[in-house]
Amino acid sequence: MSNLIKIDEENRRFKLDSGDTSYLIMVNDQDMLYHAYFGRKLPDGDYSYLIDTPPHSSIEAIDDRNGFWISDNAMRLEYPVFGRADKKETALEIKFPDGSNVITLAYKSYKVHEGTVGIKGLPAAYANEKSEAETLELVVADDSVSIEVHLFYTVWRDLSVICRHAEIVNNGKNSVVLKRALSAVLDLPERDYIMTTNCGAWASERRIERHELFSGVQGLYSKRGNSSHIHNPFVVLQRKTADENQGDVYGAVLAYSGSYEMLADVDAYGMTRLTMGINHDCFEWVLEAGETFATPEANLVFSHNGLNGMSQEFHKLYRDHMCRGKYKNQRRPVLLNTWEGCYFNFNEDTIVNIAKSAADLGIELLVVDDGWFGHRNGDNSSLGDWYPNEEKLPSGVKGLAEKVHAEGLKFGIWFEPEMISRESDLYRAHPEWTLCAKGRPISQGRNQYLLDMSRKDVQDYLYDCIAKTISDGVDYIKWDYNRNFAEVGSQLLPPEKQGEVSHRFILGLYSLLERLNKDFPDVLFESCSGGGGRFDAGMLYYMPQTWASDDTDAIKRLEIQYGTSIVYPLSCMSAHISVCPNHQTGRTVSYKTRQDVAYTGSFGFELDPTKMSEEERNLSKATIQEYISYGDMFVNGTYYRIANPKDDGYAAWMFLSTDESEARVTYATIDHSIEGPVPRLRIPGLLPEATYVDEERGRTYTGAYLMYAGILADIPGDRGTVVYKLKRK
Ligand code: DGJ
Repeated sequence: MSNLIKIDEENRRFKLDSGDTSYLIMVNDQDMLYHAYFGRKLPDGDYSYLIDTPPHSSIEAIDDRNGFWISDNAMRLEYPVFGRADKKETALEIKFPDGSNVITLAYKSYKVHEGTVGIKGLPAAYANEKSEAETLELVVADDSVSIEVHLFYTVWRDLSVICRHAEIVNNGKNSVVLKRALSAVLDLPERDYIMTTNCGAWASERRIERHELFSGVQGLYSKRGNSSHIHNPFVVLQRKTADENQGDVYGAVLAYSGSYEMLADVDAYGMTRLTMGINHDCFEWVLEAGETFATPEANLVFSHNGLNGMSQEFHKLYRDHMCRGKYKNQRRPVLLNTWEGCYFNFNEDTIVNIAKSAADLGIELLVVDDGWFGHRNGDNSSLGDWYPNEEKLPSGVKGLAEKVHAEGLKFGIWFEPEMISRESDLYRAHPEWTLCAKGRPISQGRNQYLLDMSRKDVQDYLYDCIAKTISDGVDYIKWDYNRNFAEVGSQLLPPEKQGEVSHRFILGLYSLLERLNKDFPDVLFESCSGGGGRFDAGMLYYMPQTWASDDTDAIKRLEIQYGTSIVYPLSCMSAHISVCPNHQTGRTVSYKTRQDVAYTGSFGFELDPTKMSEEERNLSKATIQEYISYGDMFVNGTYYRIANPKDDGYAAWMFLSTDESEARVTYATIDHSIEGPVPRLRIPGLLPEATYVDEERGRTYTGAYLMYAGILADIPGDRGTVVYKLKRK
């Protein structure tokens, strides 16, 4: 008997309890799946009255079979379809062999699964133990066109998250064409929400924007082939009275790395429909007779504890149930990446000298970035030629890895597998592996083309190159991806399947990553896409950390990291100390500020340590030791945002240890002026009755004082940081 999913079979009602939330689904008199509620947890009881469609106008079309009098367009539906009376954004559109797109989905059956069910070929949150989760599978179908849709809802004992996806099955004798197959729809009964989205650019990702919902369609999308620098696939709807620590907030994330859409459609009746899934402009899928199409997973959170409450649910979901492998709950090795220190200008001696210097600082992993392969000395050649550049690395990857290991460091290397340079042996041998429309012009991005990742031969070639390099002694791979899609086509697939290429590219990428994960469980993979252009939950399933941005300036990072923290665990966000003046902004800030900002994520350095001053070397030694001592708190602790760098003009955040006995609060100024005002920091997440000691300042507080009265921040000067280390007595 299921505990989290309660089913009233006779009345066809489904109550899903997930963490502190409830989600209610009913079947109406026309056999449609009706969305009744998602929000704060409700006791069991009679909720039949929640089929409460608002009065609607006579212009709406109504399917009045059996005397039914409500239009689809005014109902809150679980999986609305295109082609009937519902004229809002919909989840499903199918073109049938007779040219029609009319489909009517009626409830058929349900099934409850222990734990999670997974999604073939796609990332999905998983339960570590079956008892952590339950999954409801609802089947709706249109027998007249032989289509079944299976809707999956995973609920969690201890997480206020609902994970949803859909599977569309063609039981007919002919193929049909899916024109749109979204992952989930959430129909909310009101419109008075603030929508938090994010917008960005290269070196400026995930900057938070807020607006009140307005009538019509608003939201985010990518048609770029990746989840993108421009808009990350998450949307938040919060009540106007909600803030970081209280109030009702909905969060939606698509665990997918390709072109997507996440839209809010506010209708004439004051209701809000949130839709999310693969971008339908970049998608068409020929579903052959007997085949099933699975959508990516959507993750929905409701929190009545404000934005921090919502973020903490996402953090736990992604850290504990999406990331995999031995590093997921472990402090990652402190790394040094050569990119900003050397760019393309290095050879074996340079790297060995860096390794010696890094080892002396206490760094644990040395990563050789771009430029080690083919004839690569700039960004215009050799992608695809994944063999060592002999002029630079005379003893190959193997010899270099041995030398780095001999210094006591792990060894990591950069790849950009999905790309091919026109100037490469691979392109000369296999021009047909390029993603393009045959006979049409091909656009370059950063002087490179994309490989057709939908092809098995391409995946196999890349697997062999990467596996060979790993076997030469590689402990870590940085997996980069530096351009957007332009002309999308495959020279292998037939004309009618060209609309599938965009999604097949991602399926091919996921399949390659799955194979590498399985065969090399000890290798740490880090995802990157020209900085944070593919920082998404899908990639976290295969690579437990992502390079947040190519902008390493500590002040610029405050906003980028704030925006990242809305959804993603900080342990998955790489953040490095780089040199000043900063290479991207030209700004100079103190070592301490750079350190305190980089501590927020998976920590490392992005510089040439042989060029550091003696003072910086000594600071770095201490920094690394301190970071290591905070390892568990930074990875598994609870993260709170205290201030928003954009709106408040300063940043503040906190980590609370897993046993809640220690808190580390960081305050960072952005543009401090001598006449103030100086903020009062109210510290969330503490126990009001407990006593906390700040040993450094010799102060003792009661939790309630820190939480409600707060402390007047110390003044670190312009672009400075202050850290408060609080220990519970
Ligand atoms: C973009 C990445 O974000 C950088 O860190 C670096 O790896 C370069 N690519 C190398 O080409």
